[in-house]
Amino acid sequence: MRAVTLPAPDDMDAWREAARALIADDVPPDRVVWQVGAAASDLFAATAEAVSAPPAAASPLRVSRGFIALAGDAVLHQDPERFALLYALLWRLRETPRLVEDHADPLVRRLEGLAKAVRRDIHKMRAFLRFRSVADGVGAGERYVAWFEPEHHIVRANAAFFVNRFASMRWSILTPEVSVHWDGAALHEGPGAARGDAPGGDPIEEVWKTYYSSIFNPARVKVKAMLKEMPRKYWKNMPETALVPQLLASAQARESGMIERARDRTEIGSNVQGAWEALREEALACTRCHLHKHATQTVFGEGPVSAPMMFVGEQPGDQEDLAGHPFVGPAGQMFDRALAAAGITRAETYVTNAVKHFKFEPRGKRRIHAKPDAGEIEACRWWIEQEQMLLQPKVTVALGATAARSLFGKVMTIGRERGREQRLPDGGAAWITVHPSHLLRLPDESAREAEFGRFVEDLRLAHAALG
Ligand code: URA
Repeated sequence: MRAVTLPAPDDMDAWREAARALIADDVPPDRVVWQVGAAASDLFAATAEAVSAPPAAASPLRVSRGFIALAGDAVLHQDPERFALLYALLWRLRETPRLVEDHADPLVRRLEGLAKAVRRDIHKMRAFLRFRSVADGVGAGERYVAWFEPEHHIVRANAAFFVNRFASMRWSILTPEVSVHWDGAALHEGPGAARGDAPGGDPIEEVWKTYYSSIFNPARVKVKAMLKEMPRKYWKNMPETALVPQLLASAQARESGMIERARDRTEIGSNVQGAWEALREEALACTRCHLHKHATQTVFGEGPVSAPMMFVGEQPGDQEDLAGHPFVGPAGQMFDRALAAAGITRAETYVTNAVKHFKFEPRGKRRIHAKPDAGEIEACRWWIEQEQMLLQPKVTVALGATAARSLFGKVMTIGRERGREQRLPDGGAAWITVHPSHLLRLPDESAREAEFGRFVEDLRLAHAALG
């Protein structure tokens, strides 16, 4: 029997090193016991052998990107069997290198389930964590502390997200298992904490209360969906949930017939509509990055909130910036033509951009489009994530590399990824294609026609995925 002791419950690198060594030594999965920390180390003391370090230059098994992505998520699950399951899959990849693509295989299915639960937990932490400000010594400036109780071992994996989003603040996230602290320059780790270690009191985002009260949906009082989206255990940490008793009371005071009617799609729709309007209002005053200083206005997404397809472009162009609407200039006209050719109606689509302000370089009287950089895309992701959460489209289509980067949180190669369904980090279905302005830039008519055909075909495939 081999006993492998990993130093931490989320240590993917340690798992990978150990798994490599085991494969190189030809150790079958049923001969391995996986454990974390010192906890169970003497359990198998009599029979366990230590795992040898991998041979220096050995590369026993090449695995696909699909496996790495699946393992990277699944390893963060709280299920104690996850390491063994992953090793069992790795073992079988020796015979069947493309096994990860077999979604009917029970082992693959089980690991996909773990990975999905982890992604959902990551998403919840991003959506529901709330900082509160605390005084932090004379002259030290403000500091923010949040308490969060994740279901899985996601805190370290999620820390970079909060560093990016709140880079200029000093903050701590306290959780039962581990704490992470950002001092404005570096991330430090500390032991787990108790809920009482985090302050109560006023949230920093008062605006969330307004936002939340407008998305509060009495129809959901009785449906699991509300708890699914916002599990009760998070409620106590969220400023806006101070409003819940009041909102519940007024919802219940309305006769049950009203609540029944609230289940009606239109009414649910109008709550989402109200939330979307609150969100848009907030975005109009956005100063999350410097682009707002020179643009005319925020150009927010447009379309019915019930639209099953969300299209994400790069950023508003010159004409969009002046008009305040997305995709109304030359790229928008090309996009409209392609939608029509693909048989997609505007009523089915919500159209938005990864970056909501026009970035340009002045040249004489003209404003020349400039590509948004990674920091600007990241700053604006806040809005696109809120739009996704509210609308929950069945299918999202990234138009061009900037949109893909924003939606997937990493660089995606359009040529390689177009034409097949992708999974967004929150598990939603997505497709990637070129930006319509790419077609406008092609020099000759025949290339333009051919590319237009491919673009339409991509849109058709995405549309067909609605089922
Ligand atoms: N290009 C985009 O990506 N979005 C627009 O709204 C207009 C042009």
